[in-house]
Amino acid sequence: EASEKGGYPHYMLKEIYEQPWVLENTLGGRLREEEAGVELGLRLDPAAFDKVHIVACGTAYYAGWVGKYLLEALARIPVEVDVASEYRYRNPVVDGKTLAIAISQSGETIDTLEAVRQAKRGGASTLGVINAKGSSITRETDDTLYIHAGPEIGVASTKAYTAMLGAMALIAVWMGRARGTLSQAEARSFLAELRKLPRLVERALEMRPAVAHVAEKYHQAVDYLFLGRHIQAPTAYEGALKLKEISYIHAEAYPAGEMKHGPIALIDERLPVVVLATESPLYEKTVSNIQEVRARGGRVIAVATEGDQEIRKFAQDVLYVPKTSPLLAPVVSAVPLQLLAYETAVLLGRDVDQPRNLAKSVTVE
Ligand code: G6P
Repeated sequence: EASEKGGYPHYMLKEIYEQPWVLENTLGGRLREEEAGVELGLRLDPAAFDKVHIVACGTAYYAGWVGKYLLEALARIPVEVDVASEYRYRNPVVDGKTLAIAISQSGETIDTLEAVRQAKRGGASTLGVINAKGSSITRETDDTLYIHAGPEIGVASTKAYTAMLGAMALIAVWMGRARGTLSQAEARSFLAELRKLPRLVERALEMRPAVAHVAEKYHQAVDYLFLGRHIQAPTAYEGALKLKEISYIHAEAYPAGEMKHGPIALIDERLPVVVLATESPLYEKTVSNIQEVRARGGRVIAVATEGDQEIRKFAQDVLYVPKTSPLLAPVVSAVPLQLLAYETAVLLGRDVDQPRNLAKSVTVE
């Protein structure tokens, strides 16, 4: 087993470190800079739809939520994202011009599979964004975009998540080019950022000592709060999910702008607050949120863009990630949050790869 872990103490850590080459697998062969597009080998016509429904569970759901921002930004198409167990029991308005995208690492999650069936009953076309080859969902969707993350053993998903984000970016370019909402020049500059992602994730991994320091400082905390805005809101939710899954520390996530409507009441000097404060048009607003937390005694751990010295004035701890397009910041920002959950769980002596009560794939309702 030790050799299967490639010298790492846990599968989860190994999988976290595999992310640079996984992203290379997801993206590398599909980017077509010369043609200002992507080659996904899909049969579906990306210009045939007027709305997108994304369905998924757990970590894959947060990848879907990021996907919504990507699709809105690059393809200007209305997108709804649902947890599959809700979608399958509501009465979604679906027709022949709906593309339903199911995101799943295992391709076996029963709620996601049933959500696909629900969309098909309404006449939607279906696309799976899947890791496991030949899995149940791939057999029921019209088309599959494999994320090529390789087998993921750790119950808490890491490399499949960032690969799903890469895949959603590809789908957004594919639709954006077909719909004429993404110009050649815009596409080329976005593709250049995608091309750089594996190297940027490698750099993000180098921040592990700083993350370990934060974990050490706060591993006795009873609660954690994660805040982020816009495309980094789902990152906050995924960070909180990772932490609760493997450390069993209660963690709550909120869109930062919504903090004033409730979670602000929780803030005191015992509450570590992780704030996604990477470069974005909403950066100043996020800094205001940090100041509100600080004014109430909260401890701020900011995830910020390399080179941002200003943020040190506001946050007690800063975890730096490499600069990329704001639309791709969720990919590099996932890394320190995965490491924070990992280091915290190890300090608390938890079973990192097999957390209690959780299953890698949930095939029964
Ligand atoms: C379980 C796993 C999660 C995963 C979710 C969805 O809850 O513990 O890590 O995100 O299922 O799984 P899927 O295979 O559909 O991505």
